[in-house]
Amino acid sequence: MLVDTFKASLDPSLFKLYRKYLYSRHKATSELSQAEVVHEVAKEKLAKMADKFWKNESYFDPGPQLEVKVAGHTLKSPVGMAAGFDKDCEMLAPTSYVFGYLNPGSVLLNARAGNPQRRVAVDDERQALINAQGYPHKGLDNTVKNLRRFVQSPRGRAKVLLNFSGITETYTEDAVLDACREIIEQTSPYVDFGFEENRASPNTDFNKKLQTPEFTKKMIDLMNSHVPKHLIKASKIVPYSSLPPTDDERRDRLKSIKVFYENGGQAVVIGNTRPVDTSKDKLTKDFVRPVAGESGRPLFPYMLRMVQDVHKEFPDLAIIACGGIWDGNDAWQAIQKGATLVQLYTALTFKGFGVVRELHDTLKERLGRETLQGLLEKRT
Ligand code: FNR
Repeated sequence: MLVDTFKASLDPSLFKLYRKYLYSRHKATSELSQAEVVHEVAKEKLAKMADKFWKNESYFDPGPQLEVKVAGHTLKSPVGMAAGFDKDCEMLAPTSYVFGYLNPGSVLLNARAGNPQRRVAVDDERQALINAQGYPHKGLDNTVKNLRRFVQSPRGRAKVLLNFSGITETYTEDAVLDACREIIEQTSPYVDFGFEENRASPNTDFNKKLQTPEFTKKMIDLMNSHVPKHLIKASKIVPYSSLPPTDDERRDRLKSIKVFYENGGQAVVIGNTRPVDTSKDKLTKDFVRPVAGESGRPLFPYMLRMVQDVHKEFPDLAIIACGGIWDGNDAWQAIQKGATLVQLYTALTFKGFGVVRELHDTLKERLGRETLQGLLEKRT
């Protein structure tokens, strides 16, 4: 009997075996860590499977119960693919049949190699990824080409929330803002949900200088003048560094979010990876960078706490929960704490896209007779 590899890949235990096989076959190169090589191989396979995903669209369609509205946009599902998974908009067609929305990027103006090796480690025990990639990207021209191809071809119903970073070789605020303007202008004809600005990666020292309320104001001003009115404006947030958070850290995060929100920002993505000291763990001790970002399961409580704090302070601000969401129960908890949408990266690499179907099924089960939109409208 012929095994349908596509269907098999949706079963988490078979996916686990396939993942093991890929790691046994592919080793690190001089530029890429082993996990990145495996990601590239998986991407290549995925890019060729748009047709399979189209044929199996109904498998990922949760039906009307999970439809959700954000600032006038209706999404078929609250589940999205987090930034970093598809940095160069190479997998939009196949993944548009899986998710409610896609979060490609971070898109940069110029091509960039990122930090030298080693820069990504997989912690199988803790179900985590630790990365110090430093924004590798093929550049805006390539992204625009891929976006154009995406909108001109058959596609699923996922909408695009494009994540961008203004990092270039020139480390000044003005250079960052100029790069962001160029990215928004060139990509907005192909974007149908919104834009998400990202200064929250711990893998570029300069980013830290941009994480002030003053620069947040400059960023939202730029987004107000350049993001087309029908698209949403979102910001990605740095997670707390400790739990419970210190009063200073909590105040600092809320202050920047307040500036973004009160000046027209409509959503926050909570959050990016959590900065960790690479010298402290045997998996990361040979990283070139002293700091890397941790994703996956250990991030979950940090994410949940910030979602709760931000929702309490700004109940009408849309929150996109991101960080360690592993299954439908995690997604449900994030929604209970105040999230409107959720998104995943690490869980997709450990469990495959079958996890999206599990999230849909669990959320529908938790909702019972209620719709997600109904629940969100009643929530305070
Ligand atoms: C990321 N993430 C990320 N975020 C972002 O805004 N721009 C980016 O380019 C990247 N790149 C990236 C690369 C790698 C290898 C990883 C693991 C992560 C962060 C990602 O979007 C997300 O915020 C975190 O991974 C937390 O979510 P999960 O992975 O715990 O679901």
